[in-house]
Amino acid sequence: MTQSVFTLAAASAFGLEGAVAGELKRLGMKNVHAENGVVLFSGNVQDAFLCNLSLRFSDRIYLLLAERKCDSFEALFQLVSSIPWEDYAGGKEAFNISAQCARSRLMSPRDCQSITKKAILERMKARKGCRVFPENGAPFPVHVSVHSDQVRILLNLSGPSLSRRGYRTWNGEAPLRETLAAALVEFSPWRPGMPLYDPCCGTGTILIEAALRQGHIAPGLNRSFSMEQFVFFPKADGERIREKLRADCQFGRIHSIAGSDIDPEAVTLALRHQNQAFRDSLIDFSVKPLQEVSLTEEHGVFLCNPPYGERLSDTEHCRKLYQELKRLQDRHPTWALCAISSDPGFEKAFGRRADKRRRLYNGRLECQFYTYSAAVQ
Ligand SMILES: C[S@@+](CC[C@H](N)C(=O)[O-])C[C@H]1O[C@@H](n2cnc3c(N)ncnc32)[C@H](O)[C@@H]1O
Repeated sequence: MTQSVFTLAAASAFGLEGAVAGELKRLGMKNVHAENGVVLFSGNVQDAFLCNLSLRFSDRIYLLLAERKCDSFEALFQLVSSIPWEDYAGGKEAFNISAQCARSRLMSPRDCQSITKKAILERMKARKGCRVFPENGAPFPVHVSVHSDQVRILLNLSGPSLSRRGYRTWNGEAPLRETLAAALVEFSPWRPGMPLYDPCCGTGTILIEAALRQGHIAPGLNRSFSMEQFVFFPKADGERIREKLRADCQFGRIHSIAGSDIDPEAVTLALRHQNQAFRDSLIDFSVKPLQEVSLTEEHGVFLCNPPYGERLSDTEHCRKLYQELKRLQDRHPTWALCAISSDPGFEKAFGRRADKRRRLYNGRLECQFYTYSAAVQ
């Protein structure tokens, strides 16, 4: 392949673009530019691999292969045919095409998928001089994004979402995506070294993400990525980058992170997840209603994802819980408290307006992330 620096794209949930851009800059990436739902930057394949391993808030890393306005399927076919697929693929790959269309003339993801696949195979047949492709090799995931008639053809370098770190193999009730949990840690006033406590910890996602950060542990270390099977990816470089990040881990720095939940099954899962993340018990999990939480440490942060309540009866129950969160903070005046909720009545139920509010999305659910500063600083 002649080209070595590419335009790369880090997909992001709405509201997290700024955080993703920040971590790309900290990793030393160039030309970082945030758009809605994606952050573009430039780098080589080694940079892309480092991002796959290291990014805490992004959903996927893509290589932008081509981009143009397309108002017909013929234009899409021409755009896909112009890409030198033979430089990226050996010939045996299984081309998996996904597509997403919004506010465009091309509004059928299925048609976009089949036209893209046809254009790829025709170009590959012409360039490789073969008539059939067995497609029995490694998956080669291509994504077609159509937005306001602007088409982007993207090669998915991550495979499954980066939120799948690998430690969470059993889900409890309404678990939080790992990428959003990591972002809550980032947006809270907690910084490594301070005490952190989640009084509704469920399966432990927020606390595990905080511990990964405190221990300088790259979140993707224990999983694989689609790009590792691509013919153009130098595997030895990948191993070197992974080993360097492994050597940077400081498990000994993880301390003062704890949480509890009223549900014993959720806590069992949390214990299992931390064991899968760290092979050790670095976080103190216990079964307890939040009404009974009483801590001796000072100047910490309560950070939680309490239930939101979808039905009216649930809403009333949840609002009582929000009052309990206020009482919890009153019992710990040197602690800040942060919570995410989709309930517009959160602040009223809590009994105080938040010092800071930030709009975030938990999946498709619009939420607010509330921060209440400590009464005693
Ligand atoms: C939305 S879930 C939290 C999910 C968690 N962030 C995760 O990733 O698994 C809300 C949690 O609040 C817990 N909960 C509800 N009432 C509680 C109470 N009174 N005290 C402590 N935990 C409670 C539930 O058992 C549930 O695990």
